[in-house]
Amino acid sequence: MEMVEYLGLRAVIASGVMRQLFDLLKRIAQSEAALLIEGESGVGKEIAARAVHALSPRAPRPWVDLSCGALPEHLIESELFGYERGAFSGAHGAKPGLFELAHTGTLFLDEVGELDLRMQVKLLRVLDGAPYYRLGGTRKVDVDVRVVAATNADLPDAIREGRFRRDLYHRLAQLRVRVPPLRERRDDILPLAFYFLHGQNPEADLDPEARQALLDHSWPGNIRELRNVILRAAVLSAPGRPLNAAHLDLSDDPPMPAENLGELERHAILRVLRAVGGHRQQAADRLGISRRTLTRRLKELDGADRAGRSFPHEFAHEKQTP
Ligand SMILES: Nc1ncnc2c1ncn2[C@@H]1O[C@H](COP(=O)(O)OP(=O)(O)OP(=O)(O)O)[C@@H](O)[C@H]1O
Ligand SMILES: [Mg+2]
Repeated sequence: MEMVEYLGLRAVIASGVMRQLFDLLKRIAQSEAALLIEGESGVGKEIAARAVHALSPRAPRPWVDLSCGALPEHLIESELFGYERGAFSGAHGAKPGLFELAHTGTLFLDEVGELDLRMQVKLLRVLDGAPYYRLGGTRKVDVDVRVVAATNADLPDAIREGRFRRDLYHRLAQLRVRVPPLRERRDDILPLAFYFLHGQNPEADLDPEARQALLDHSWPGNIRELRNVILRAAVLSAPGRPLNAAHLDLSDDPPMPAENLGELERHAILRVLRAVGGHRQQAADRLGISRRTLTRRLKELDGADRAGRSFPHEFAHEKQTP
C-alpha cells in the first residue's frame, strides 16, 4: 500500500488497477493535451486531476478549479471569463476570469457534463485558441491553460441526446482516463477502510466478519460511501473491542450525504433508537456504549445539530418500561 498526497488531497493506492492508473497519470502529466477523467461519483476523480497537475511541469503554476454543476449558468460565464466594471448591474469592479487566473497553469472543470450548450460553444472556442473578451470588455484575453475535465455522466449518451456537443467532447478528451468504481478494485477496500478508521482512532480494528462485509458490499457510492460507513462505525466503537458487521450498517440505502461527525453520530443513534422503540438500555447495548454514555450523547446532540434539528420528541425523554 502506498500513500500519496497531491495538492492537499491524500490518496491510498493499494490495488494493481490503481497503481497502473497513477503510473498512467504520471505520464499524462508530462503532456499538454486536454484530459477527460471519467468515473462514477465518489471514485476519486478529483485526486486524479490534482495528481496530473502536481506531477506536471506546470506544478509551480496555478491550479484553478471550477465545479460546473455548482453554479447557475449565468454565473459560470462570468466566473470563467471574468468581467469589466459595469458589465452588468452589480459589477462594481472588474474581475479576472478563472481562465486568466489559471494562465500558465491548469484549469480543472469538474462535472463538465453540467455545462449548458451555450457555454459549451464558448468554451470550445477558447480551447481552440481563440482569444476572448471579459464580459463587457474590449481587450482581448489570450491565455495558456491546460484543461483537465471530469464527469460522472455518460457523455457519449449526452451527445446522442443532444445535450453535449460532440466537438467539445473530442476537444476535452484528447486524453481519457477512467477511474474504476470500488467494486472493480476490491483490493483497495480494506486499506481504505483502515486508513479512514485509523484517522479517527489509531487503535480501532475490524473483526473478520466486518472485513468480509466490507469486501462483499457493492459500494454504489464508492469511496465517499466507504468513508461515511467507517466514520459512522468509528463513532460507535468501544475501546478495546473491534468493530463488528452490525456497526457497519451496510444497508442498501442511498449513501448518507453527511460528512459531519456529529451528523453521523446523530444518524446512528437515531436509527438504533427507532429500531428498539426508544428503549435506551437496548439501544445502548446495540451501539456498544453504556446507557449513561447514550444519555449524555443524547443531551449533547440535542440542539447541537448543525442543521438546527433536534432529536424527535419521542426520544427526548426516557421511555417508561411498563
Ligand atoms: N484513493 C483514495 N484514498 C483516500 N481517499 C480517497 C481516495 N479516492 C477518493 N477519496 C476520497 O473520497 C471522497 C470522494 O472522492 P472525490 O471527491 O475525488 O470523488 P469524485 O470522483 O470527484 O466524485 P464526484 O463525481 O461525486 O465529485 C473524497 O473525500 C476523497 O478525498
Ligand atoms: Mg468530484
